[in-house]
Amino acid sequence: MSSNRDQSREPAANNQRAEQGAVNDESLQQVHAILLREKNEPSEGFSPMPLFLLGFISAIIFVCSVYVVHYRGDFDPLVYDHRYDAAAAKAAASAPKELTPEQILARGRQSFQTCAACHQTSGQGVPGVYPPLAGSELVLGKEDALIRILLHGLNGPIVVKGNPYNGAMPAFGKVPGGGYNWSNERIAQVLSYIRHEWGNNAGFITTEQVDAVLKAEAARSKPWTDAELKPFE
Ligand code: HEC
Repeated sequence: MSSNRDQSREPAANNQRAEQGAVNDESLQQVHAILLREKNEPSEGFSPMPLFLLGFISAIIFVCSVYVVHYRGDFDPLVYDHRYDAAAAKAAASAPKELTPEQILARGRQSFQTCAACHQTSGQGVPGVYPPLAGSELVLGKEDALIRILLHGLNGPIVVKGNPYNGAMPAFGKVPGGGYNWSNERIAQVLSYIRHEWGNNAGFITTEQVDAVLKAEAARSKPWTDAELKPFE
């Protein structure tokens, strides 16, 4: 019972002390002196980046981007080769690929499989039926006559290497009634091939030469005869 009475008396005493303290200048200054002496509390979380730093880093990134775009060399590993010429490489990539003589002969050899059905892989032909291409005067002779035979075909009696033939050689060019319609490039390749195979040794025939003959004979629609070819031999 007695302790109960003590507690009920305490708050009143505290209030009295607080009221006294609140109005006391000295105690107020003492409290502030403590606050002034203490450092700022360390704070948690983010604080904004200084504007100067932000601008500086942005400028560096910008300058680096410009540098990379300017000196990237298309990210081609070849640019580390001091002999590499970027402009020449670009021109070579866009220009039409020119075939090497070996490639022309290889393609001609492939096309020749069609001819081999008659003239044989050996180029020797079949005696009395298909004339030989190996050592043939027409194959090794003037391009003008040879191209004409391939484009429009050849009919009627003919003598090759002293032996007579009288058959029908089909037309291979893009001509009216021609069954094969080979491109001029393919004809040039197969002709270059038969002029270099089996010991034959005559010059290549170009696509441009075939173009020119096809243009000159645009009106023709039937195979040649030996007599008609004579002016071109
Ligand atoms: C269907 C059989 C046949 C085919 C395929 C054929 N030829 Fe002929 N070729 C002949 C015949 C037959 C003659 C002879 C024509 C004549 O007697 O007038 C001849 C003649 C020739 C001649 C002139 C005569 C000579 O021997 O030099 C040449 C060149 C020639 N052919 C090349 C070719 C080429 C190249 C090919 C393939 C692109 C080819 N021929 C495909 C049957 C053929």
